[in-house]
Amino acid sequence: MAYMLGCMKVLVTGGAGYIGSHMVLCLLEAGHDVVVLDNLANSSAESLRRVEELTGKHPDFVELDLLDATGVDRLFETNGFDSVIHFAGLKAVGESVAQPLRYYQNNIVGTLNLLASMDKHGVRTLVFSSSATVYGASEEVPLIEKMPLDATNPYGRTKEQIEDILTDLGAADSSWHIALLRYFNPVGAHESGRIGEDPTGVPNNLLPFVAQVAVGRREKVMVFGNDYPTPDGTGVRDYIHVMDLAAGHLAALDYLPSHPGVFRWNLGSGEGSSVLEVIQAFGDAAGKPVPFAFAPRRPGDAAVSYADPSSALADLGWSTHRNLAQMCEDHWRWQRENPNGYNA
Ligand code: NAD
Ligand code: WQD
Repeated sequence: MAYMLGCMKVLVTGGAGYIGSHMVLCLLEAGHDVVVLDNLANSSAESLRRVEELTGKHPDFVELDLLDATGVDRLFETNGFDSVIHFAGLKAVGESVAQPLRYYQNNIVGTLNLLASMDKHGVRTLVFSSSATVYGASEEVPLIEKMPLDATNPYGRTKEQIEDILTDLGAADSSWHIALLRYFNPVGAHESGRIGEDPTGVPNNLLPFVAQVAVGRREKVMVFGNDYPTPDGTGVRDYIHVMDLAAGHLAALDYLPSHPGVFRWNLGSGEGSSVLEVIQAFGDAAGKPVPFAFAPRRPGDAAVSYADPSSALADLGWSTHRNLAQMCEDHWRWQRENPNGYNA
């Protein structure tokens, strides 16, 4: 896919994180100037050092918390940003149930601080990391953007509420250009194996858990439920390669300048894979079977979730290109070469 946009100066909040670091790499490769804002609460600046090594280009890095409204405003005073990609946020569902105030404070207040500075300094082009989690445990698939939202946990509600805030903002002031990107299940890593997902503690998500079993850090994968109404009884999800996901953001950045308003796009492949299919595909990539055992269902999990990605294709000309085998191969290369993530 060819992107038409000229060189822009882009602020990437949360740019040291998993998806953000891949995004920064793609932006630099596309010729943009990048400033990363991150408080390193769930990441390491090593990711950006490796992005620089891969691209030969330097992303400016500002260690800053979005809750520091004065610091955020100073950053806008001293930089002429054209647009913002906003990844910064806390994202662990279980933790959000245990610590709702921390999640609402960090994700919502952090976003409000960012928006206030953007508005004050006339930077009104924003790409926001939303999530398929806003659809809740909908039994209807594929999930379509116009479906009602029904997030079922505090993390998901921060995403839904930020979508509402941004929708109200776009309605109040037509000079905003806003993309709400609803990611399905991002996995994989850059093909170099130099950057990837590096979760702290026990991974919540399937792919990083499977990868840590394959590399010998954990004994076996617990498969949460084998009695779902799916072909093999295990949960079905729409996995999307992180590089395809980053390409979707570039396409949105290309679209927004000539389109004021608020746009919602699912970023998914449109295809579902079961937990057992993922474990099998990862074992194929790693060249050895990944041990697993069945366990009870995880509360709150939907049986099946996959996107209707046709709006992103129609509006942005974007679709995914990497299949489950490639996702697992790239994820495995990252895990094998960095068994302990960025902490060598
Ligand atoms: P991540 O934790 O790797 O990245 C988020 C980054 O934001 C981290 O580097 C963290 O240090 C930073 N951050 C958090 N709070 C901050 C604050 N107050 N100030 C400054 N920096 C802060 O997560 P990710 O997987 O890269 O996710 C990026 C975004 O995409 C998040 O908003 C997440 O909710 C959303 N998302 C992720 C997934 C997924 O499965 N990974 C799915 C849907 C949506
Ligand atoms: C996938 C499948 C599990 C772990 C979560 C968030 C969502 C979004 C993406 C941010 C399910 C099963 C998992 C394990 C398992 N994140 N599983 N054993 O739940 O679809 O979505 O991440 O926005 O908000 O909720 O992803 O990777 O946790 O689970 O059997 O150890 O794997 O039951 O069927 P999920 P996941």
